[in-house]
Amino acid sequence: MTYANRMKIKTDKDCDLSLIRGQPVAILGYGNQGRAQALNLRDSGVSDIIVGSRGGTPAAARAGEDGFEVLSFAEAVKGAGVVMVLLPDEVQASVYKEIIAPNIKDGTALGFAHGFSIHFKEVIPADTLDVFLAAPKGPGRALRDLYTQGLGMPCVIGVAQDTSGNANALALSYAAALGAGRAGILESSFREECETDLFSEQAILCGGLPALVKAGYEILVEAGYAPEVAYIECLHEVKQIADLMWKGGLDFKNQAISNTAEFGGYQAGDRLVDDHVRAEMRAILLDIQSGKFAKTFSEDRDQGFKTLKSRRAGDASHEIEKSGEKVRATMPWLMKNES
Ligand SMILES: NC(=O)c1ccc[n+]([C@@H]2O[C@H](COP(=O)([O-])OP(=O)(O)OC[C@H]3O[C@@H](n4cnc5c(N)ncnc54)[C@H](OP(=O)(O)O)[C@@H]3O)[C@@H](O)[C@H]2O)c1
Repeated sequence: MTYANRMKIKTDKDCDLSLIRGQPVAILGYGNQGRAQALNLRDSGVSDIIVGSRGGTPAAARAGEDGFEVLSFAEAVKGAGVVMVLLPDEVQASVYKEIIAPNIKDGTALGFAHGFSIHFKEVIPADTLDVFLAAPKGPGRALRDLYTQGLGMPCVIGVAQDTSGNANALALSYAAALGAGRAGILESSFREECETDLFSEQAILCGGLPALVKAGYEILVEAGYAPEVAYIECLHEVKQIADLMWKGGLDFKNQAISNTAEFGGYQAGDRLVDDHVRAEMRAILLDIQSGKFAKTFSEDRDQGFKTLKSRRAGDASHEIEKSGEKVRATMPWLMKNES
């Protein structure tokens, strides 16, 4: 295996928080990322934050309850020095074209939390803007929880346009205000973040892993084992192993599991992830790099997410969900604070 150049991982000491503290910041969207980012920025001393919203939604009401001024997207953008686009990727192109572009001032820094829209040219920003990426590597809830515990979530940053000459320093400053400087900030690019993020989602996190869980559950139940036991073995226990790998890597995980589990794991892992699977993983990466995946995703969006909705309904009605509901009923604390 050959390695690209290893990078220096930046931390708080490499970031100048005063850059973002000195800017009026518009956070467009108050969902998963928007809420967590706005709250973390405020707690990091960014005092001038406006939340942009299409209005009249629960998210807009929540932003108001959290003490933020909420304006229309257009009004929020007009007064901002930094505009952070925290809308679903599939709506960013139309919101940019119809609302952001006509209202944004020259010299404003336009930020994204994922490289998709810029890398696949769904959004083509005016050349008078700085364009930066600050992509926290995890969901908003975890971003906020880690921050309030005095910890942080790693963040990948990048710069697509640097008209001011200051875009990278601003991206570092923004990421530090999210708390990422306590964990690690990786100076990357829109392309690298976008392609690696899509690949890990598809091949591992949201594709490979759930598919393995469902298949494992189905095979055990078909073989006559109790669905509740199959649920615990194939889904519930994923967290324990994921937590061990997350904390300390593979060897740390191996120290914490039995020799039986480790030995069987090597044998089965080799059988499962064989040359065919590796070839498919490479093909998935090629589809991402060529833009084929982005095209398929946009086509589904244009048809009202017909495929996405049908697959989501399929997961919701899968047998494993019934077993999960039953097993989790004795552990109501699992969903504590999930509102
Ligand atoms: N979710 C994650 O774990 C995660 C992690 C890292 C990066 N990211 C990136 O962060 C960005 C935001 O993702 P998200 O998951 O935070 O988004 P989200 O929670 O799905 O949505 C964010 C906001 O977008 C607004 N919105 C939805 N549809 C809209 C539309 N058609 N027009 C205008 N506003 C609309 C919603 O406002 P209302 O409810 O007021 O309508 C909501 O407040 C994306 O680029 C994503 O790739 C996400």
